Amino acid sequence: MKTQGALLWEPGTRSGWTVEELELDPPKTGEVRVQLAAAGLCHSDYHYDAGDGIVDFTLLGGHEGAGTVVELGPGVTELAEGDRVITTFMPSCGRCRWCMSGRGNLCDRGAGLMQGKALDGTCRVHARGGDVGAMTYLGTFSRDIVCPTDSLVTIGDDIPWPAAAITGCAVPTGWGTAVNIAGVEIGDVVVVIGTGGVGMNAVQGARNAGAQTIVAVDPIEWKRKVAHDFGATHDAADVAEATELVADLTHGVMAERVIVTMGVVDGQIVDPALDLTAKGGVLAIGGVSAMSQHQAAFSIFPFVMTEKQIRGGLYGGSITRNAIPMLLDLYRKGELKLDELVTRTYSLDQINEGYRDMEEGKNIRGVLVYD
Ligand SMILES: NC(=O)c1ccc[n+]([C@@H]2O[C@H](COP(=O)([O-])OP(=O)(O)OC[C@H]3O[C@@H](n4cnc5c(N)ncnc54)[C@H](O)[C@@H]3O)[C@@H](O)[C@H]2O)c1
Ligand SMILES: [Zn+2]
Ligand SMILES: [Zn+2]
Repeated sequence: MKTQGALLWEPGTRSGWTVEELELDPPKTGEVRVQLAAAGLCHSDYHYDAGDGIVDFTLLGGHEGAGTVVELGPGVTELAEGDRVITTFMPSCGRCRWCMSGRGNLCDRGAGLMQGKALDGTCRVHARGGDVGAMTYLGTFSRDIVCPTDSLVTIGDDIPWPAAAITGCAVPTGWGTAVNIAGVEIGDVVVVIGTGGVGMNAVQGARNAGAQTIVAVDPIEWKRKVAHDFGATHDAADVAEATELVADLTHGVMAERVIVTMGVVDGQIVDPALDLTAKGGVLAIGGVSAMSQHQAAFSIFPFVMTEKQIRGGLYGGSITRNAIPMLLDLYRKGELKLDELVTRTYSLDQINEGYRDMEEGKNIRGVLVYD
């Protein structure tokens, strides 16, 4: 079928997304076609335009999405036409050693996430007579997608589409970076560095896990203020200001959990972030650096002497088929804010404006809404 999508023909050059006609193949075995209603503008897609992420093929972006299953591939029985679904960026196979040990976010299928191919090694999306690679087996910057059934989590019909879309990535990633990776416990002092789409959910996760003090760090003043609505108790414009504040609040003990969710992580943040971390505390990094950055500097001697930990977090350690229904239940009970995370919605044609707004700090999350 023919549809429209937003492509990067020259990834890494900041030339933006081109919205144009795509040819989409029918679903094959283990796949379905989904008609999306909404797609979130995550910073992770933007990295491939900005050059922080590197791919060597034309990319159909987008991995946060929500919509309705409209066509089943041969033999698909676990989904039905009409099912409402959220897309997840890791289609865990349920069979590899990681999946079998309850760590489906680390599934071996991760190796193919940014290869642009479907699981069988071919492409479902074509433009200008050639193959196009889809972001993380999805490509939600197109209203119509063909993806593995394993990429989808079914939801009820009571969740607004934009809220559902961001529950595909920003929400479980941020929440999980606080709860699973940093391991926030009752009474903890927590610092979240970067309160955008992902970080605001780390604030929400920390609050729900019982943190007593949550410091939101962001250079954008209105985001620092809004972070209080999501559970922050204090805010700071940068890490230096946060360090002074936390030293004062804790009489020098510092924060049990420090969470890094800024848009582009620089290796230079690690040492000051460790200074913010209490003895025996955890520095959890969920934001990513430019792929070309291979070094982070920190002082090893005090790191060893204070038994601090540095942990990376993929998808916030979330097992999506478990985490997403749980998060949506919290939303239904009013304990997790989703609608308030969606600052503005855009049409597909406005995608470059949406990302400009993200860059300029105008959005917690921008979301594409399809007709
Ligand atoms: N680990 C994962 O599985 C995973 C999943 C999704 C996104 N991510 C990554 O998480 C990061 C955040 O994504 P997002 O969509 O929330 O981005 P975003 O652009 O919405 O938010 C980033 C925030 O960081 C703030 N910021 C920038 N520089 C800062 C600094 N020096 N100190 C403090 N704050 C700063 C910005 O003002 C913004 O509010 C990105 O690197 C993204 O690729 C990782
Ligand atoms: Zn994302
Ligand atoms: Zn697996």
